[in-house]
Amino acid sequence: MKLLVTGCAGFIGSNFVYYYLRKYKDSFIVGLDKLTYAGNLENLSKLTEEEKQRFVFIRGDINNNELLNHIFEKYNIDVVVNFAAESHVDRSIFEPHVFIKTNVLGVQSLLSVAMEHWFRGDKWLEGKRFIQISTDEVYGSLGPEGYFTENTPLDPHSPYSASKAGGDLIAKAYYDTFKMPVIITRCSNNYGPYQFPEKLIPLMIWNALNHKELPVYGDGKNIRDWLYVEDHCKAIDLVIEKGKIGEVYNIGGHNERENIYVVKKIIEVLRRKTGDDKINEDLIKFVKDRPGHDRRYAMDPTKIQTELGWKHTYSFEEGLEITIDWYLNNLDWVRNTISGEYLKFYEKNYLGR
Ligand code: NAD
Ligand code: TYD
Repeated sequence: MKLLVTGCAGFIGSNFVYYYLRKYKDSFIVGLDKLTYAGNLENLSKLTEEEKQRFVFIRGDINNNELLNHIFEKYNIDVVVNFAAESHVDRSIFEPHVFIKTNVLGVQSLLSVAMEHWFRGDKWLEGKRFIQISTDEVYGSLGPEGYFTENTPLDPHSPYSASKAGGDLIAKAYYDTFKMPVIITRCSNNYGPYQFPEKLIPLMIWNALNHKELPVYGDGKNIRDWLYVEDHCKAIDLVIEKGKIGEVYNIGGHNERENIYVVKKIIEVLRRKTGDDKINEDLIKFVKDRPGHDRRYAMDPTKIQTELGWKHTYSFEEGLEITIDWYLNNLDWVRNTISGEYLKFYEKNYLGR
């Protein structure tokens, strides 16, 4: 099986490349990534020599149809897994246009080029799949009760989630109109190794280790449904193998936690692991809320559980232990990752919040 994995140098993309190459010894992956501030080839530096024989990296943009055509021609791609995206809500508030370009127009480019190569005569070639990786955020925000199902109407609030909803809708339109073999997955908040330290968990780990303030937005009672990245990779694998064309699958492991709980747990685990008493709750600082901040996300994963047999393995607390160990063992990775462009952006837009 030949996969085109876009966004392969980002957080989930790189975890998926490791997962898939290790599980399927006869698989081959073409990794495409623009290497924005969030893409880091160091994320793929742990591939073995054998795995490197089955992986090729191409730096490029999913909006570049010429490059995409070249990739489809040269590698005879069976499956596209589209992780490539601008992924951070706070950034989308400052520069929405970049989000529309990649998360909406980029999806359309990928779909159109895949269609050119997969639709022959009047039918689709056998075994082709286009997996659009999306998010629970397209459903909007929940009150204290209830869950998002695949039938929950889309109601995005941030430029990020609106752009992801746009990408989902154009992907759905290619199925509805052309019967293109598209499947959309919507997962909850991921965490684990190689997550860029602008997202809640790695940012709090890094700041706490450096005795810096831990900025909690608003009252800290917003709820996210946490999914360990390896559990997410397993779900995508099942969707490629057994998912039904034209369907949407929600992915989440019923691990809802308030942000303030997450931050306090990180402090507790880090202090235990490092013995550093300066890592304590005095570091927490409640700051101005994120505009349009969604209150609660919670997934109903019944469909993927009953139809594809997926189940999450890690509770939030188990996944967090592993994640914190990974960051403690990879502090150089964090330093390299947050140098340069990211810091400039961070200083300009975030400090003084
Ligand atoms: P990430 O920001 O870590 O990685 C995104 C990758 O895409 C980066 O390597 C970046 O360089 C690349 N990229 C950006 N624009 C590109 C373009 N135009 N062409 C080619 N490559 C480009 O993001 P992530 O957390 O790994 O998220 C992966 C996917 O999963 C995204 O589609 C995101 O919307 C979705 N998702 C993420 C989460 C989460 O919690 N991280 C939750 C739900 C859904
Ligand atoms: P984030 O990791 O940005 O993911 P998302 O916004 O896509 O859910 O944020 C997770 C939650 O943590 C969200 O409710 C916003 C909050 N948050 C903070 O309170 N402080 C921070 O510094 C960050 C980055 C996020």
